[in-house]
Amino acid sequence: MRKPIVAGNWKMNGSSLFAKELIGQLDSHVQDLSNVEVVVSPPALYISQVLADAENISCAAQNLHDAQAGAFTGEISVAMLQDLGCKYVLIGHSERREMFGDNVEFVAKKVAAAFAGGVNPILCVGESLEQRKNGQAFAVVKEQVLSALRGLSFDPDNLVIAYEPIWAIGTGETASPEQAQEVHAYIRQVLADEISAEAAEKVRILYGGSVNASTAEELFSQQDIDGGLVGGASLKADDFKIICSAAANK
Ligand code: 13P
Repeated sequence: MRKPIVAGNWKMNGSSLFAKELIGQLDSHVQDLSNVEVVVSPPALYISQVLADAENISCAAQNLHDAQAGAFTGEISVAMLQDLGCKYVLIGHSERREMFGDNVEFVAKKVAAAFAGGVNPILCVGESLEQRKNGQAFAVVKEQVLSALRGLSFDPDNLVIAYEPIWAIGTGETASPEQAQEVHAYIRQVLADEISAEAAEKVRILYGGSVNASTAEELFSQQDIDGGLVGGASLKADDFKIICSAAANK
């Protein structure tokens, strides 16, 4: 059985005070939920603080650089994340692919660096609206998954994939549970065909894109949806608690 994960991507939001208050409210709620792993992904500056304040929540960084160290102003290495006790790292979020030059080669290098450094990648994939309209959603997602994983050896327990259709991110337009399930099942089939049966069975695949307190339960009830990567709703303690509970009840 795959244990569900709910990860809250704060993106470039929050402050030290905000993090303190939100984690204060979340941590005790999560304590009572046994069947879900709760992760928050604050701006890197707040990871240490969150980890110091949280007993039941782990952290994902929002990015890393694949190099071990060196002249890369503004960047963060996997060793630094490991040093902080950061368990996960988001890689290939569509905002980074679109705005910060994270192309398929860079994403693949980052995934390899994360595995090598002992921080679990949450590999984000997803098609644009235009690609969906043109019938390319499956091909795009397949290529994003395989270009990041081809030739890598990794423990499938340590990989998380997040399917985030770009047209559903921050738009209030959620993929229907059926639409999301269809792509999740497809990703699992791609893993089975191209990586291993074990990977298809064990890799957790999260849905992201306007998940909120009222849509979470139905999305998470789908067979191949192992939780969510949540943006806006993860900034509101009450909503995020409901989403965590929905995953725990899967
Ligand atoms: P929203 O939940 O705000 O649509 O963001 C989704 C996302 O990009 C999570 O990484």
